[in-house]
Amino acid sequence: MRKQTTILDIQKMKAEGTRISVLTCYDYPTARILDGCGLDVLLVGDSLGVVVAGHENTLPVTLDEVIYHTRAVMRAQPRALVVADMPFLSYQVDVGQARLNAGRIIKEAGAAAVKLEGGANMVDAIRAIASIDIPVMAHIGLTPQSIHRMGGYRVQGKKEEHAEQLIADALAVQEAGAFAVVLEGIPQKLARRITEQLSIPTIGIGAGPGCDGQVLVLHDILGLCEKYSPKFVKRYADARSLIADAVNAYITEVKSGEFPTEAHSFN
Ligand code: KIV
Repeated sequence: MRKQTTILDIQKMKAEGTRISVLTCYDYPTARILDGCGLDVLLVGDSLGVVVAGHENTLPVTLDEVIYHTRAVMRAQPRALVVADMPFLSYQVDVGQARLNAGRIIKEAGAAAVKLEGGANMVDAIRAIASIDIPVMAHIGLTPQSIHRMGGYRVQGKKEEHAEQLIADALAVQEAGAFAVVLEGIPQKLARRITEQLSIPTIGIGAGPGCDGQVLVLHDILGLCEKYSPKFVKRYADARSLIADAVNAYITEVKSGEFPTEAHSFN
């Protein structure tokens, strides 16, 4: 059986030049499938608010919702490293609350690490959480919880002074104790520069091929979302059509009396 993946394995992958595969995951059956495929990391992202709950953005997601979904994922006993997102307002208010809420994700849900958004402005929270031995994945660049400051989901770090700030953010989160960092929605050259300067792994999303690993939202690669498909998404399946075809066949057979048959009945 595949051994349990730890943050040390993820860090070793950078040192060895092995690319890190990450997808979001929010429930038990999907965790069974994804883990069986051998993904390195399952991320219980706060994107669940959008792709599972149908919100416009990630801001309404609560800590209890993240814990609920993470517990479902953990029941699949994945060998992948499970990282759960800290939702908006669960770590920004003060470091005591950040520690407590990160601790709840580990203690009540069973994740092995948490992820939070922000760079130099969030080093106190990262340091506080890491100081009680909870591994932290940082997330910089296009940070969806900052949608109102960014004025939408826009590529970050295009101007030189913003690029310099993002390099400073990456170095700051590493120095504060993050074990890895997500680089979202930034120019590929900048992502490569950051990746070369850091000793911790970078996980890209809309950041080009120069990162140490890649993450995408599962619903995006499966073609389950109709609303919004960013340029950086590659669709590997058309699961909406697959589901619709199955459900249409079921409706037809129920209406016609073709299903259920003897084979599906008890005597
Ligand atoms: O919430 C999420 O799914 C994320 C990834 C897209 C990085 O933060």
